Amino acid sequence: MLRLDIVNGPNLGRLGQRQPEIYGRQNWSEILSELHEEYPELQLQQFQSNHEGALIDYLEALAEGNSRGVIMNPGALTHQSYALRDAVAALEIPVVEVHLSNIYAREPFRAHSLIAPVAVGQISGFGPSGYRLAVAYFVDYLQRI
Ligand code: DQA
Repeated sequence: MLRLDIVNGPNLGRLGQRQPEIYGRQNWSEILSELHEEYPELQLQQFQSNHEGALIDYLEALAEGNSRGVIMNPGALTHQSYALRDAVAALEIPVVEVHLSNIYAREPFRAHSLIAPVAVGQISGFGPSGYRLAVAYFVDYLQRI
């Protein structure tokens, strides 16, 4: 079974309750069950942490496993964490960066991603569909290599 990992950073455990006008009304378990329904053939592993080090530990541990791709929403660490960026850069598994909101249409500090230059690409502004688009990308990409 093809394994993909979905990694969510700080404050993303409260999706559905957290500023729904920005991040939507769906909670994470609803988003994830839709992904499982749409892609029953994939092993979708998920991890969320509010802690930078825990996210880095998770990425480091992936290097030893069989994950084929990482879909990561680093939350605010996107804009401030050199350590997370280094972890992504060091990972040999491709990483797609996802943001629910359009980070370019909000406060200026959000318009800069430290992760984007070391990711395969970035999906921003499509709400929960961003995760689906990222999974679709990996399915397509992994069939072609
Ligand atoms: C976010 C955007 C970030 O700027 C913010 O800090 C988040 C969520 C998004 O999904 O839109 O926590 O990554």
